[in-house]
Amino acid sequence: MPVPRDLLAAVRTYLDVEIQSGRRRQPLDPAVVADFLAPPAPVAPAPVRAGSGGRAVPAAGSGGARPPAGRSGAGPADPAPQADPAQVAAAAPDVAAVAEAVRSCRLCALAATRTKSVPGVGNADSPLVMFIGEAPGRDEDLRGEPFVGRAGQLLDKMIAAMGFARSEVFIANVLKCRPPDNRTPTPDEMAHCLPFLRRQIQLVRPKTIVALGATAYRGLTGDPGASISKFRGLWLKFGDIPLLPTFHPAYLLRAPAAKRVVWEDLQKVLAFLGRTPPPVQKK
Ligand code: URA
Repeated sequence: MPVPRDLLAAVRTYLDVEIQSGRRRQPLDPAVVADFLAPPAPVAPAPVRAGSGGRAVPAAGSGGARPPAGRSGAGPADPAPQADPAQVAAAAPDVAAVAEAVRSCRLCALAATRTKSVPGVGNADSPLVMFIGEAPGRDEDLRGEPFVGRAGQLLDKMIAAMGFARSEVFIANVLKCRPPDNRTPTPDEMAHCLPFLRRQIQLVRPKTIVALGATAYRGLTGDPGASISKFRGLWLKFGDIPLLPTFHPAYLLRAPAAKRVVWEDLQKVLAFLGRTPPPVQKK
């Protein structure tokens, strides 16, 4: 049986984490290994495929389900079913072109419910940090800019505590359009939108990535069921870029006690970059 890319990514992430926690040996069941190594069964070609290239960053676990090749009953607001998001994203030569492609994107049904799509903002020229969140909320949908609501204000404080201005880092989301009622993005929506984020990462070339919350972690690693509590604070890689997952600021609004561990995580990023946080300003 062919091994799904998501599964390989999950195994790789699991082994990375085991190595980081000091484990040097992993007992293996020979039958499982033999099954894993068995030659894959031939796979029938996909019926419609505009092109398989264009995966912006061959990152750890950058796989993900492809969107369906076609839909029936498409109305005027429905997405263009035949377009390949990876190809659309790969065709963008620079960050501004990705933003333009995101603004005019109708590749999934969220195009029909959004006010504005939200490509991303900030320093697109190899910033020290790129923050990646989940999806726009109400405020972001209205403004077309990520992290401008309450969670965004807290993210701004996190960025300031690290000694950066918001304009010095790049900020983007896994989904570029708001899911109705701020519900969690579906795997299908993520598969449609992730090529834009991968292309942004490839073009922005950040020195580090901070994944904010489970959706960002899952989108970047391809590990669909991962719990953020398990992986926060552990260095991973997205391609060759160091990636540190931590809690989402929206979670910190509900659980302020978790700010302490998030600050520890952000200090790890600073230490990696060889920077020290600025002294705390007394009010
Ligand atoms: N939450 C996110 O994940 N992204 C935003 O842009 C705003 C809130």
